[in-house]
Amino acid sequence: MSALSDRAERLRKLSPAYEAAAREEHIPVIRPESLKLLLDAAKKSGCSRVLEIGTAIGFSTAWLAVETGAVVDTIERDGERLERARAFWKEVGTEDRINSYLGDADELVVKLAAENRYGFVFIDAAKSRYSDYLDAVYPSLEKGGVVFADNVYYLGLVKGDAYPPHKHRTIVMNMRSFLRKIGDKEKFDTTVYDTEDGTAVCVKL
Ligand SMILES: C[S@@+](CC[C@H](N)C(=O)[O-])C[C@H]1O[C@@H](n2cnc3c(N)ncnc32)[C@H](O)[C@@H]1O
Repeated sequence: MSALSDRAERLRKLSPAYEAAAREEHIPVIRPESLKLLLDAAKKSGCSRVLEIGTAIGFSTAWLAVETGAVVDTIERDGERLERARAFWKEVGTEDRINSYLGDADELVVKLAAENRYGFVFIDAAKSRYSDYLDAVYPSLEKGGVVFADNVYYLGLVKGDAYPPHKHRTIVMNMRSFLRKIGDKEKFDTTVYDTEDGTAVCVKL
């Protein structure tokens, strides 16, 4: 068995219990339909380098690394979560494909985007910051590269233009601004899927 299929086999075996534990502990990890869309878009992009903003315990990171064979740079600000992620990647045997960074995405995205070119960017951290992450990564995204963003409908509150409840206002307003940006037909070919919490796939033109 090749190293890649060996890892894929291990990931398939370990994944269900790992995902179930995350849900039990209320650690947000990508949901099943969105994971399918994520892996499908990443494989189609033919990327050799991925940036993931928001690692949590490294569930989606492992899938991205195994299914694409690309190098994955991933950012998380919670040290305990990142430690669990690193242990999981070791168990899967995919740690050699993953560079993980502990810290605030606002700073790390700017730093990594200045140092690398990306074929695929998965935005999955602070929902009020998607629009800023997009601005920061855009110059480093290859032509034909993909930005994939999860939770873009945010509890359904982002749809339409109703004035949002006070406690969700910043996220909703900023997410609408993000959706306007990825709707720019001169810059992106974008599809927004109404699965789970809303998922956007944007190809850079
Ligand atoms: C939805 S989870 C990521 C889930 C992961 N992509 C998956 O599907 O397995 C979002 C993560 O982003 C992290 N996060 C939120 N704001 C951040 C920031 N400003 N900088 C770095 N990480 C951040 C949170 O701690 C959380 O673990």
